[in-house]
Parts: sequence; structure tokens; C-alpha cells
Amino acid sequence: MTKVITYGTFDLLHQGHINLLKRAKALGDWLIVGVTTDNFDLERGKLNTCDNVMKRIDAVRATGLADEIIIEEYRGQKIDDIHKYGVDIFAIGSDWEGYFDYLKEFCKVVYLPRTEGISSTMLRQEQAVLQLGIIGTGSIARRFVDESKFVNSISVAAAFNPDKAKAEAFCKDKEVSLATDSLDELLAGCDSVYVASPHYTHYDYVKAALEAGKHVLCETPLVLESAQAEELFALAKKQGKVLMMAHKTAYCPAFGHLVSLLQSGAIGEIVDFNAATTTITDMKSEKMDSARFGGSMNENACFPLLPILRLFGTDVKKVHFVSKMKDGVDIYTKGLMLFDNACANFEVGLGAKTEGSLVVSGTKGYAYVPAPWWKTEYFELRYEDQNQNKKYFYPFAGEGLRYEIKEFASATMSDGYFYSKLPEKEIIAMTKIQEAFNKKENLTILK
Ligand code: CTP
Repeated sequence: MTKVITYGTFDLLHQGHINLLKRAKALGDWLIVGVTTDNFDLERGKLNTCDNVMKRIDAVRATGLADEIIIEEYRGQKIDDIHKYGVDIFAIGSDWEGYFDYLKEFCKVVYLPRTEGISSTMLRQEQAVLQLGIIGTGSIARRFVDESKFVNSISVAAAFNPDKAKAEAFCKDKEVSLATDSLDELLAGCDSVYVASPHYTHYDYVKAALEAGKHVLCETPLVLESAQAEELFALAKKQGKVLMMAHKTAYCPAFGHLVSLLQSGAIGEIVDFNAATTTITDMKSEKMDSARFGGSMNENACFPLLPILRLFGTDVKKVHFVSKMKDGVDIYTKGLMLFDNACANFEVGLGAKTEGSLVVSGTKGYAYVPAPWWKTEYFELRYEDQNQNKKYFYPFAGEGLRYEIKEFASATMSDGYFYSKLPEKEIIAMTKIQEAFNKKENLTILK
């Protein structure tokens, strides 16, 4: 019996896939089809897949051409599969010509003619594309446009800055068609909005965009008063629109897995937490402007607060802050948070720097994420018996913004249920802590 194997994502299964499977099957007596897992695609930077792995497997099965379906979940698996299944022929479309020649050592490699004029990419492009308008044209907005190109179904259509020259320069540089200093014009030209303006303007812009019926993705911090956060989420619900907070750590693959591992008891009961997010910033920067809600807590606290609130819940019993101030803003703040069963410690800084790692301590071991932990692609679980230690590696592609952009696009396209990786409850809890700090509750100021 001649065994043939082929692999693919098989997203939005189309005639090209069917032709390929027929050609592969004709090469032998038994066809094994490897379908990539969602995680494997994510790992190789393919963030635009529409159908999940189960749907893609079902679609391959429905063709009736596969005798056996397996999942492909890691690089190098093809060699293992060839041995494991006793494969005679590896077949793949001609777009991969030459790429898999290294498998010739293990079996026959056949590149099959590809069907012209159709691909999953083309089908995805034909699907609804979200027209996005950007409010604020600073450095994060620039990175956002670059990263949005890695996500299908989003197209940056317009950019707003009250200073029109700045909007125009941004649009020219980033090839965005509409540059405007009119919020109404921006909102008329898009169906979703990314708010990347200074913090103190978020509330007004988010509210205006939601009232105009747009989905909103807003930079951290969403707002700095919890009543405003609650009001905006209620408004989003009333309008039936998505309101998400941009936060690259919350949506990146490593962070999600670290949290799941810890929640499932990988280091026993969690007793303590420590993380720091510090960057040295020019004192003249807007981020240091007290009139514009600058300062370390307002700028950076959403980063350590994310894992703290995720791991310990939002029922914070007490928070104590210690700050070093300069020109009316905290250049460095240390926070001690108490929960019923655990405590957490964090440091944020814009004018002082410290080690930016994260450590979560548990009754069986601890998790260590090296600096900069908020952009992590690697972490370790460490135990008393070092033989038990484990290292975990993940992709963190580009600037990492593409993960949140993909989540936002998916949320806006879901018809009803969508699980947010950064839920409203946690955003409101973050805001409450920043609010307590801004009201100087339990704040000790160092000389
Ligand atoms: N294939 C083909 N003809 C097409 C499209 C795909 O023969 N028009 C083949 C590929 O060469 C591969 C298999 O189908 O052997 C699965 O490819 P996959 O990457 O899932 O499909 P694409 O449509 O190429 O997907 P994308 O556009 O996301 O790259």
C-alpha cells in the first residue's frame, strides 16, 4: 500500500484545496492529511486564519478524500510523521517548490500543480473588511498601522488629529487615505475606531465614537475614573458595540498560557507576586505632564495590574502606594496590594529604572518571566527540585500589537458571544486602583 501525506491550513476550504487533495490521493492508496492547529499557525505568524481547527478538519473530512486526518502542531513534525505513519510520498502544492526537499531523505517528495486564481487569502480579502479610523497620530498609532497589515479584515481608512498638518503627515507616511481634523468626518469615514490620543482625551473620544455607533479599541489606560469606565462600558452595551482596551500583554500568546498554567496549580497555591514596568522618559514628555494625567501610575500601572488582577481576582482588600515625585508627577511608584489569600507588589516608573522581570511565588514553586516581561516570549516554572524546572517559549511577532488587533477584529465580527481576553471587570478594577492613587489614598510620598 502506498501512503501519501499532505499538509495545510485549509482555511475557508476552496476548490484549490479539493483539487490538491484529489491529486495527492491519486498518487497512492492511502491519503493522510495534516491540518495545522490554531496555535501552530499563530506561532508561524499566520494570524489571519478565519476558521478554527475543528472547522477546518470538518471541512477536509467532508471532501471524502482523506483516509486519515492528523493535526500538525510543531515545526519538524513532518519528519516524525513520515516515520510514524510509514509514509511513502510527501505531496504539497507547487507554491512550496523546493522548500520541502529536505524530506527527500525520508520519502519521495512531490510538488503538485497549484490551482490558479483561488486561495484562502483571496477569500479572506473578499470578506467584510473593518474600516478603521485612528484618533491620535503619535508613535503608538504609527506602530499600530504597521502591525495592522498582518491582520486581515482590518483596513486603516482615516486618521484624526486636531492639528491637521500632523494628521496629513501621518496619512502620507502611512498611506492612509483620509487625514482630518474633524472628528465628525473621521467617524463618518469608518466603522470602528482606535483611540491613541493622550489619556486625558480618551473619555470624550471613546464616548463620541460609541455614540456614533462605532466599535472602539482604546489605548491604556482606558480612562482614569472608574465611574467613566462603567459609563463607557454601559454605553457600548446599549449601542451593541465592542469596547476593548488595547494592551499588548493581555493578548499575546505567552501571557495567556502563563496565566492558565498558574491558574491550574502549576506552582501550587499562589502566595505572592512581584513585577515592575519601568522606562526612563524625558521629563519634558507629555507622559510627565501633571496637567495631562501623566506620571508612572497613569502611564504604566495597567501592565503589572493585569497579571495581579487576573491571578488574584478583583476583590482587592488594600493598596498602599509609595511614590517619588517630581514636578507634580510620580516618577516612580511602588504598590503593595493585599488580597484575602495573597499579596502583590509592583513598581512602575518613568523617571527611575529597575529590573523588569515578573515573579509569581507559590507553595510548590515559582514562575519567572525575564525582562521585559510585558512583551514576553519566554518564561520558566522553577521548583525546589531543579530537575522539575520547565522552560516555555512562544512567538511574540513584531511589536506584538497584531494580537490585540486580531482580537478586536474578531470581536467586532462575532455575532453575539465573544470572550474578551481583557474583560470589563478587570479594566474597571485597574481604573479604580489608578483612581485611588490619583486621589492620594494610602499614598506615602518620599522626600
Ligand atoms: N493549494 C492549491 N491551490 C490553491 C491553494 C492551495 O493547490 N489555489 C494547496 C497548497 O499548495 C497546499 C494546500 O493546498 O498544498 C493547503 O494550502 P493552504 O495554505 O491551506 O491554502 P491557501 O489557499 O494557499 O492558503 P493561504 O492563502 O492562507 O496561504
